[in-house]
Amino acid sequence: MIVTGHPPRNPQKSGLPGRLASTVAPVLERAEGLDEESGLRKLVAGNWKMNGLKAEGLTLARALVARAAAGDPPDCALAVFPPATLLMPVAETLRGSGIALGAQDCHAEASGAHTGDVAAPMLKDAGCAYVIVGHSERRIAHGESDAEVCAKATAARRAGLIPVLCIGESLAERERGAELEVVARQLEGSLPEGLAAGEIVVAYEPVWAIGTGRTPTAEQVGAMHAHIRRRLTAAIKAGAEAPILYGGSVKAGNARELLSVANVNGALVGGASLNAAEFWAIAQSCP
Ligand code: 13P
Repeated sequence: MIVTGHPPRNPQKSGLPGRLASTVAPVLERAEGLDEESGLRKLVAGNWKMNGLKAEGLTLARALVARAAAGDPPDCALAVFPPATLLMPVAETLRGSGIALGAQDCHAEASGAHTGDVAAPMLKDAGCAYVIVGHSERRIAHGESDAEVCAKATAARRAGLIPVLCIGESLAERERGAELEVVARQLEGSLPEGLAAGEIVVAYEPVWAIGTGRTPTAEQVGAMHAHIRRRLTAAIKAGAEAPILYGGSVKAGNARELLSVANVNGALVGGASLNAAEFWAIAQSCP
């Protein structure tokens, strides 16, 4: 049985296809931290967004590496998603630490005349194991459709990266009671074909909770994650083994409650991931 939908602790034994098994990043070696409901190991991921010059990014990465080496690792897998300019130096800093690297977006094509874009094989080459696709900040500010997000996720898989597929409703959609329908439509429209276990991570990020300090109640999160799990299981064979992260105003103060909800297999953390102590406290909150 595969217990990790994200980079496995022992790729040799993971049962993943060879190409993926050989490319996943190592994670912290701990047996605890499995989600009771799904048996998945939790993943706490830091999306740095468009923040950090080299000095700040490296200071943050070094602080996380120092904590990982200090002998009290959290009971979860860890990953950071720096801006594209910092991927290669942060990859160097993280080497051997057990903390995985991810990018924030990729192009759907593997190469070509796309000025300013970055292709998934380039991210792989820079040391990434993951790439975020379909973040609401891109869906909204760059008008990305489900079909485009699906093409990006497909490109990520082709390059041997694990897509972190973001979905989530707006405030207006929740207020009119359309959140389950919106999220199911985004999920089903953005999922690539033929995924095997360990090849996708889903992140539920309600748009109204991002950067606002507002979070859904544990009950609302539980209902949505159960809904996503059902839809994922119906849509893909590996649906039961895909981690579903919660994202949106996760802080040290609310992480334990959110991470204790059934089917919450980790967190995608924005603002709070820019502070090493706070990010670490969130990771330490994994039940
Ligand atoms: P905040 O944690 O800053 O609300 O951002 C969440 C997010 O968008 C992570 O991708």
